[in-house]
Amino acid sequence: MTDKLSKKQDTPAKGTVPMVKAQDVHKSFGHVEVLKGIDLEVKPGEVFCLIGPSGSGKSTFLRCINHLEKINAGRLYVDGELVGYRQQGDKLYELRDREVAMKRRDIGMVFQRFNLFPHMTAVENVMEAPVQVKGANRAQAKERAMQLLERVGLADRAGHYPSQLSGGQQQRVAIARALAMDPKLMLFDEPTSALDPELVGDVLDVMRDLAESGMTMVVVTHEMGFAREVGDSLVFMDDGVVVESGHPRDVLTNPQHERTQSFLSKVL
Ligand SMILES: Nc1ncnc2c1ncn2[C@@H]1O[C@H](COP(=O)(O)OP(=O)(O)OP(=O)(O)O)[C@@H](O)[C@H]1O
Ligand SMILES: [Mg+2]
Repeated sequence: MTDKLSKKQDTPAKGTVPMVKAQDVHKSFGHVEVLKGIDLEVKPGEVFCLIGPSGSGKSTFLRCINHLEKINAGRLYVDGELVGYRQQGDKLYELRDREVAMKRRDIGMVFQRFNLFPHMTAVENVMEAPVQVKGANRAQAKERAMQLLERVGLADRAGHYPSQLSGGQQQRVAIARALAMDPKLMLFDEPTSALDPELVGDVLDVMRDLAESGMTMVVVTHEMGFAREVGDSLVFMDDGVVVESGHPRDVLTNPQHERTQSFLSKVL
């Protein structure tokens, strides 16, 4: 499935390395091409927003960044390293599952549905990966988990089970859980779209704080206010391609492309 991957060496130079770099990324499911040549670059520390209609390939692209899907052609780098492949000389080798899992540790992902472990309390959810995956000491992991829960405004809910938390609280636990692995990149896939409107603000506040702390974030969102205020870049995707990109304020207030205009007229 890697037929079109050229085997030339062109790893970007250190120092100027983008956190994510996509070059002509293609992804198909069976005969259906979902990503039709995505080119984009996310700089370190940037909040990069992705918008677009349902089915345009936003989640698929995030899943490719996070090694959950393999691309069929093009190149995708995270922090200067090819996703899914190891380059040796002029050859590319597919990474083994274990190597992929190692790389995925560095990337935090927050989904629309919170996917917390239902049988664990908030603090246990946050501690789980550091203890199980990184072999962290339980007491230290717990202390860190408590700090993270405090950071997302939930120190007083540490002992609650997910079923005892609101959707917004569960989502903030999910963010704390992702941060517990010290990711260099955070991916958000419509983190607020399953929430009641009155719970959205608290989650966006946590994301805003995270952005201010310098975290590199790729955010698929329908929250145009967030994109405008917090985003550094914005990409409008439609039907597997990037239609338009730029500063969120420019794209949102003065879209150049007819497809962007039509989409924004429906969501703004
Ligand atoms: N595992 C899969 N197998 C087959 N088709 C898939 C798979 N995952 C996604 N697709 C298809 O790929 C297309 C893009 O889906 P994707 O979930 O990336 O869109 P999206 O932009 O995130 O949409 P939404 O805004 O509704 O979340 C859709 O047509 C979807 O049906
Ligand atoms: Mg999606």
